[in-house]
Amino acid sequence: MPKSLLEQKLCSDKVPDEQSLTHASHHVPSGFSDHFALGFTKVLRWAADTFFAKRYGHRAIVLETVAAVPGMVGGTIQHLNSLRRMKDDDGWIRTLMEEAENERMHLMTFIEIAKPTLFERIVVMAAQWIFYIGFFLLYLISSKTAHRVVGYFEEEAVISYTYYLQEIDEGRSPNIDAPAIAIHYWKMPADATLRDVIMIVRADEAHHRDVNHGFSNQLAGLPVDEAHAAPYPQHADSLRMDA
Ligand SMILES: [Fe+2]
Ligand SMILES: [Fe+2]
Repeated sequence: MPKSLLEQKLCSDKVPDEQSLTHASHHVPSGFSDHFALGFTKVLRWAADTFFAKRYGHRAIVLETVAAVPGMVGGTIQHLNSLRRMKDDDGWIRTLMEEAENERMHLMTFIEIAKPTLFERIVVMAAQWIFYIGFFLLYLISSKTAHRVVGYFEEEAVISYTYYLQEIDEGRSPNIDAPAIAIHYWKMPADATLRDVIMIVRADEAHHRDVNHGFSNQLAGLPVDEAHAAPYPQHADSLRMDA
C-alpha cells in the first residue's frame, strides 16, 4: 500500500509494538512522586481497558474529554502564579493552553467518527467533576507530580492510538475518510483517511508526553532533553473552518 505524504512525514510504515514504544519514550520513575504518577496512570489504564476493551473510537472520545483538562488547569494555576508573584512564566501558560485546545480538537475530531452512548456521556460528566477537582488539587500540592501524571497519561495515549492503528491495518475497523474538521485543523490533504488522522493525533500525544515530562523534570531540577522531544505537528491558526 503506498504511503501518503503525511505518513511518510510522520512515521515509518511499520506500527511499532507497545514494547518498542515503551522503551523508546518511557520516563523511568524515580522517587515517590513518579511512582505515584505511574501507579495512578496504570490504574486508569486498567479501568479504560476493562470498560472499553477494543472499542477504540469510543475509548478515544471518553479519554479525550479527560485529556483536555490538565492543560487548562495547569495554565490557570500558572497564570495565577505569574500574577501573584509578578514573575514571567517562561512560556508555560501558552504551551499548556495550546495543549488543552489541541486535546479538545482531538475530541471534536473523534466525535465525528464514533457516537458515545448515553451511559458514556454520563460517565464523562461524572469523570469531569472528579478529575477536574482532583487534578486541580494535585497541581496545587505538587505541580511536578501533576506534570508527571500527564507525561504518563500521554505515554498511554501513544500506546492506545498504536493499537487503534493496528485495528485498522488488520481490517477490524474501517479506514473511513478523515472528517472535514481534521483536514482543516491538521492541514491534511483532501483525501486523508482515519488512519492518517490517528497517526497525527498520536504525534500530538507524543509531543505532549515529552513537554510534560520535561516540565516535571524542570520542577524536579532534573535535566530536560529538549533536543529529542517529539515534534509537534502543524495546526491551523484558526479553529473555525469558515475563517
Ligand atoms: Fe488527545
Ligand atoms: Fe494527550
